[in-house]
Amino acid sequence: MSASLLVRGASLLGDTTADVRVVEGVIAEIGPGLDADGIEPGDVVDGDGLVLLPGLVDLHTHLRQPGREDAETVRTGSCAAAAGGYTAVLAMANTSPVTDTAEAAEHVFDLGRAAGLVDVQPVGAVTKGLAGEELAELGLMHRSRAGVQVFSDDGKCVADPRVMRRALEYVRAFGGVVSQHAQDPSLAGPSACCHEGELSGRLGLPGWPGIAEEVIVARDVMLARHTGSRVHVAHASTAGTVEVIRWAKAQAEKDGHWSVTAEVTPHHLLLTTDLLAGYDPTFKVNPPLRPQEDVEALREALADGTIDAVATDHAPHARHDKEHAFVDAAFGMLGLETALSVVASVMVETGRMTWADLARVMSSTPAAIAGLGEQGRGLEVGAPANLVLVDPSADVTVDRDASLSLSRNNPWHGRQFGAAVRATYLRGQPTFGA
Ligand code: DOR
Repeated sequence: MSASLLVRGASLLGDTTADVRVVEGVIAEIGPGLDADGIEPGDVVDGDGLVLLPGLVDLHTHLRQPGREDAETVRTGSCAAAAGGYTAVLAMANTSPVTDTAEAAEHVFDLGRAAGLVDVQPVGAVTKGLAGEELAELGLMHRSRAGVQVFSDDGKCVADPRVMRRALEYVRAFGGVVSQHAQDPSLAGPSACCHEGELSGRLGLPGWPGIAEEVIVARDVMLARHTGSRVHVAHASTAGTVEVIRWAKAQAEKDGHWSVTAEVTPHHLLLTTDLLAGYDPTFKVNPPLRPQEDVEALREALADGTIDAVATDHAPHARHDKEHAFVDAAFGMLGLETALSVVASVMVETGRMTWADLARVMSSTPAAIAGLGEQGRGLEVGAPANLVLVDPSADVTVDRDASLSLSRNNPWHGRQFGAAVRATYLRGQPTFGA
């Protein structure tokens, strides 16, 4: 397969229409009426009516390998990512064994390169075995071939403030970032699974109050400020979290020596807690779906830049882990293949954001947070041709059985969307569609 192509007449970032010529995996020319010399006829792509964006970057993917290859593998997760328009994903550390050593990080990195569909960048655990006690080999993971930049115990909160402080101090030395799963374990324990409120009481489900997230976010921004380091808030889910981040960003800007960034998931931008009324474990996720007021605050925060990025928290689970009584089912939902359609419907089709804004929150900013210099570069001559072609007026109905993921815990099954990924290219090579 050639890594040269010509995309004709697509709307670049939803704005001007032009041709884009890719030679050996790099954007070589952008302009009207480019000639196709040297490009195979099969590599000339008709972009008429389509939007061309830089390849998406996911800060938060669970690929499950090693250990749970019955739910997902690096290869199947990479296929799902490419189908969703992604050219890079950060693979969370809660595998078995946990990614808490340089060797473990290199193993995931190598599996990603062998699959070759997206750049798989391992996230390192903050603590050994995700136990929350002893720091993992942060420096060794960073200096390894995998070049780990982002550290997270995701799935679990780094609850001990002393451990979090040390982690922030440690990663500061090499410009790394700690991505926190904010859940105070004494306010929301492991069985907490429904937003705490009238509904959780009525359904008899253990409540997961927003304050359990907010107290950790508030604590962590103060620790980041104290240590002069970088903290990232994973899957922000409440209006209170947004308020804290807004305050913290203003302080960080004044102080200049530390930073806070945050992500929101597509499901927290669209789905609400009332979906739990039917006790369907497909909608069981951590943090839980929240009420409409929180959803509105998250949308506003994404539009105004308080929340920096959209991240999927793609969390595949095998049937035998998900198909249980609600309280016993695993937390998590699929997200890679549908993220762009969801974000387009909530943010772009409603006029809250432009396609260029979507590219910022789903490509360039996540790439910058993760330190992936060759991703999220934008549509510019000399940039690697990591690209996604989007049909902005598609009419698609999500079918969980058409998923390229190994798992089927898809909360979007049967929903209709108006935008869809048509093709994805990693350094000029087609990885989906085309
Ligand atoms: O719903 C979730 N699932 N939230 C997490 O934080 C972890 C994830 C998983 O690993 O399944």
